[in-house]
Amino acid sequence: MSHRFADKIALITGSSRGIGRAAALAFAKEGAALIGVHYTANADAADTTVRDIEALGVKAVAVEADFRHGKDAADSLWAQFSEAALTEMGSTALDILVNNAGIAPALPLKQTSEAVFDEVMTINYKAPFFLMQAVADHIRDNGRIINVSTGFTRIAAPTHPAYAGSKGALETLTLALAPEFAGRGITVNAVLPGVTETDMNAEWLASPDARAGAEALSVFSRVGRAEDVADVIAFLASNDARWTTGQMIDATGGARI
Ligand SMILES: NC(=O)c1ccc[n+]([C@@H]2O[C@H](COP(=O)([O-])OP(=O)(O)OC[C@H]3O[C@@H](n4cnc5c(N)ncnc54)[C@H](OP(=O)(O)O)[C@@H]3O)[C@@H](O)[C@H]2O)c1
Repeated sequence: MSHRFADKIALITGSSRGIGRAAALAFAKEGAALIGVHYTANADAADTTVRDIEALGVKAVAVEADFRHGKDAADSLWAQFSEAALTEMGSTALDILVNNAGIAPALPLKQTSEAVFDEVMTINYKAPFFLMQAVADHIRDNGRIINVSTGFTRIAAPTHPAYAGSKGALETLTLALAPEFAGRGITVNAVLPGVTETDMNAEWLASPDARAGAEALSVFSRVGRAEDVADVIAFLASNDARWTTGQMIDATGGARI
């Protein structure tokens, strides 16, 4: 087993479950020093992820913040994590930030209320924006920022217009910030998952017809696993991806190519 993340300190939003949890375990398997497991409502799931990371001999800390509160939540998250990092590692430095937490309500244009629109934009775009602002001066040279977007920025999604727009904004931000961080060798990239087997999709994927439709989207004729996406995140987080920045990396299993 390689140790691509030896001595690395990582913070992954929304890593209590799904893709974020799989990314946290991928970092832990390759020797990360400390992993911040962010969650909002599901403390039990976050604790399980922390224990599973610790079982791999890696330090982990659970940090709670509700991204519906935008900048306040981002600032609170960074304050909690940096305090824990100071205790555990003697430093508030960070090597890898993965902006993964998100919500994806399936609401077409006419059914999207202003409240839902604001919530989606706040959780998926505003909170990651201000989290990047909060950590900017703490990311070490050659650090990594990875934003988790969606294949719906490339594939038309009339079922999820507010969601697709929030992730489009996150991708534009990814491009906009890449030059700013490049001076210190820090890369900023986005990963675009397709339909992935997580709690986000569990209900509708339980329908055999819906599952068949989801499988048919990918040229590999299956639904993605959280690990399929996490391995792409791990590549971008590693030194192997040092020459890639400002990019949107597809992880949809070739959906609708
Ligand atoms: N699954 C897919 O098919 C798919 C496809 C394309 C893109 N994505 C993107 O991939 C990312 C991860 O998706 P997933 O499927 O792994 O999601 P998931 O299994 O539903 O997990 C969502 C994570 O986000 C956290 N979260 C939810 N609401 C939050 C809030 N208000 N404030 C802070 N954190 C919050 C959850 O914390 P709690 O556990 O505390 O609730 C959880 O850790 C998302 O950005 C999603 O848009 C997913």
